Amino acid sequence: MNSNGIIIAIDGPAGAGKSSVAKLLSEKLGYRYIDTGAMYRSVALVALHQQVNLTDEGALGVIAKNFKFEFKNYLNQLQVWVNDEDVTSKIRTPEVTAASFYSANALSVRTALVELQRKMALESCQLFGGAILEGRDTGTIVYPQAQYKFFLNATVEKRAERRLKDMLKAGMAEKLDVIIQQIKARDEKDYQREYGGLKKTEDYILMDHTMLTVDESAHAIYQYILEHPR
Ligand code: DC
Repeated sequence: MNSNGIIIAIDGPAGAGKSSVAKLLSEKLGYRYIDTGAMYRSVALVALHQQVNLTDEGALGVIAKNFKFEFKNYLNQLQVWVNDEDVTSKIRTPEVTAASFYSANALSVRTALVELQRKMALESCQLFGGAILEGRDTGTIVYPQAQYKFFLNATVEKRAERRLKDMLKAGMAEKLDVIIQQIKARDEKDYQREYGGLKKTEDYILMDHTMLTVDESAHAIYQYILEHPR
């Protein structure tokens, strides 16, 4: 598929700072930010609302094929809308996070969402000259021919520390070693997913952000793009 624009794929494990990097790039470059994780979360949210059995792949696929999904930009914040409802915060609850493992594992869901992600990226390319795709498989499955593919990583401990900070800010409390275990469990699921699993192929630009703040990481990647025009 020819995008006729610049596609930037940002992949990596949970908590590596991908969304902060994608947001900053979207602001600086004017391309749309396509948060693919939000799409798997949204299918999970609808499935929970409709009390669909999460192991029923067919039913999850029907949701992914038929729901109305939109990203909206409001006061510089990315909002997620599903069937004309703002679900931005609803898709971030622990219940939806857990349910999203099922939607992410369903091939029917992945097929429908990958098609939608490509369509959104093409539209952003036509309107703004490029698109930023962020997730796990955006540089391997969604757009293998992306001009830039970044694989963001940081140690489990560092990712857990960042997660704890975010939770404390949101008024939630948790123990660091519990979060470390949760992140390890998520990594295992992400790397071992049968379809669309997290895979670092050789053409990724590896960015290890253990020693950088999220802002520093985002600026390092922006700088890389400026210095390596494609
Ligand atoms: O990045 P996140 O935590 O918002 O992702 C939510 C879920 O979707 C998580 O289980 C990983 C999965 N996911 C995926 O399988 N493929 C993607 N491209 C993005 C997310």
